[in-house]
Amino acid sequence: MRHRLFRVASHSRSRKQLPLLVSRSFSPLSSQSDRPPFGIAFDIDGVVLLGDTPIGGSPRALRRLYDDSGKLKIPFVFLTNGGGFSESKRAQDLGQLLGVNILPSQVIQGHTPFKQLVNRFENELVVAVGKGEPAAVMSEYGYKNVLSIDEYTSYFDAIDPLAPYKKWTTKPDIDQNSTSKETAKRKISVQTQRVQAAFIVSDPVDWSRDIQVLCDILRTGGLPGRESGKQPLLFFANDDLEYQATFPAERLGMGAFRIALEAIYNRINPIPLAYTSYGKPNPFVYANAEAIAETLLRNLMLLNKYGENSINHRLGWFKTLYMIGDNPKIDIRGAQRAGDRWFSILTRTGVFKGKDNHSEFPADLVVDTVEDAVDFILRKECRS
Ligand code: G3P
Ligand code: MG
Repeated sequence: MRHRLFRVASHSRSRKQLPLLVSRSFSPLSSQSDRPPFGIAFDIDGVVLLGDTPIGGSPRALRRLYDDSGKLKIPFVFLTNGGGFSESKRAQDLGQLLGVNILPSQVIQGHTPFKQLVNRFENELVVAVGKGEPAAVMSEYGYKNVLSIDEYTSYFDAIDPLAPYKKWTTKPDIDQNSTSKETAKRKISVQTQRVQAAFIVSDPVDWSRDIQVLCDILRTGGLPGRESGKQPLLFFANDDLEYQATFPAERLGMGAFRIALEAIYNRINPIPLAYTSYGKPNPFVYANAEAIAETLLRNLMLLNKYGENSINHRLGWFKTLYMIGDNPKIDIRGAQRAGDRWFSILTRTGVFKGKDNHSEFPADLVVDTVEDAVDFILRKECRS
């Protein structure tokens, strides 16, 4: 299945012909078919969107996975290493940008696995770092004592000596109605509670402050300004060195931040930094995507009134799961590690811009855009 190369020769021809073919004969749930079902995982940045702008014909491509009444007919998920907002908010935003109805369960972000850690840290003080609403994301997962790094920093006077020179303001989500007495009490309580873990939820915004404050937390056992102590746990939602945003060249991602933090921490602390990174290309992320796509499939089959036996018979054996990504080292490498049922498709709209396949992590297929990828999938699945 590996090392195939597909150049889309004529876009206009394939786009005109496929919708007819698909709408007449294709449904992964069609009762006359014993065809094993398939699912699709879409990377977001560099495949479906650049910043907030849809790319590569993504709205058209996604619409083909729904029937005329707007009901989902092919199980698919978004599998992104990005994040910063809850899955429900992201689903709503993506739905608006792409013109289709997306369920929160269809959105798997880099930080989604942090849900699984909630039992360990439910009532412990934890700090959430990154753009967007990192603390709100963690609260929605069930963390009861979580502070954004903006708010946490605000309780330590002069912790960031560069703050007076910064031209922007960080507005921590502190309760505006609280009195100065309550704020002072809160300050003491935060300063005297050990941070048990730091979660890098999304790309950090103020690297200099975040590296400084994280070093403070991590080398003191969670009590900045105090003597050194056992390092609290540290979790990263992904380890992407670079990703594609709106600027033509790739941008530094969370992996770059991790390298910076680790290099500095290891110079100032005798014991090297310990951490865990989530996100693609970890195989468990793909296994989770598969499980979610299976649940979607099951729900689709129930909606279509299939018998329980037929449903159970089908579960656990998606014949093919397609990963459509733009980053060979992340998306394609991950799909390769996830097992033989995963078929990787590399687009040229993001990190990868090559003419031929990637030399180190070659995809099963290389196409120009996500629309070409969906064309290919539907053609292939129609024929089989
Ligand atoms: O911050 C975004 C990023 O690291 C990659 O997102 O959608 O390409 O997995 P995505
Ligand atoms: Mg990407």
